[in-house]
Amino acid sequence: MNILECKNLRKEYVSGENRISAIDGISTAFEQGQFCAVTGQSGSGKSTFLHNLSSLEKPTSGDIIYNGKSLLGYNDNQLSVLRRRRFGFVFQSYNLIAELTAYENIVLPIMLDRKKPDEEYIKRIIEVLGISERLEHLPSTMSGGQQQRVAIARAIANKPTVLFADEPTGNLDVKSGREVMELLRQIIKEFNITLILVTHDMNVASQADRIITIEDGKIVSDTSEPAEKTENSGITSGKNAETLSTGEQ
Ligand SMILES: Nc1ncnc2c1ncn2[C@@H]1O[C@H](COP(=O)(O)OP(=O)(O)OP(=O)(O)O)[C@@H](O)[C@H]1O
Ligand SMILES: [Mg+2]
Repeated sequence: MNILECKNLRKEYVSGENRISAIDGISTAFEQGQFCAVTGQSGSGKSTFLHNLSSLEKPTSGDIIYNGKSLLGYNDNQLSVLRRRRFGFVFQSYNLIAELTAYENIVLPIMLDRKKPDEEYIKRIIEVLGISERLEHLPSTMSGGQQQRVAIARAIANKPTVLFADEPTGNLDVKSGREVMELLRQIIKEFNITLILVTHDMNVASQADRIITIEDGKIVSDTSEPAEKTENSGITSGKNAETLSTGEQ
């Protein structure tokens, strides 16, 4: 089942005379429980794609369909409820609150939503992430890898259906990065979470069920597409993607 879809998604940034097509007509769908890596060169539009797909940013045009429902009619409040209850976010910087302990950071979004944390579930994710010993620690007393594991626990504490991650191992050394990836994979499998993960690290991308490559705001290859679409060079696949998006206008 497709949990999340986007149709002809576009995002333009205008600054003065300049107009940048950061996302240039992307149509794709993500299955529940799938781990999809999004790769591409710096400036290709990976983060913009993630932000628009997750409604952190408003697309210029195009539709996003979550669980069979178009988000076009959703107002800002409905979108923020959707993000809070159904989506999780992990970024390159951990964004933990310095004054709060690891445990307080993990349950904060749930408390802000005036919900009661599911203690059993939280206990389980803390166990999987191996941070039981660190729960009373402040972020400043934890290593980068530990902080990122707390950030992951916080991102999934609300039992999201889709986890969006933007270079989650970007600030970590190779060993911690590998550990964080292993834990992420274990967690999405155990809790059937869809993971859409931006990375420029092919070692990380190769662990995914599916790899999407973005170039100039377009999908130029997608390993879930039939072979004839992706077996060619990026240039030919790029043409395919272009034809697709113009065809849908
Ligand atoms: N807020 C913004 N205002 C104007 N232009 C932007 C904005 N955000 C992104 N862009 C532009 O959109 C394009 C895509 O940027 P994006 O951040 O999505 O790239 P990226 O693939 O994530 O790159 P990186 O790998 O370096 O993180 C770039 O040309 C960038 O300069
Ligand atoms: Mg980026």
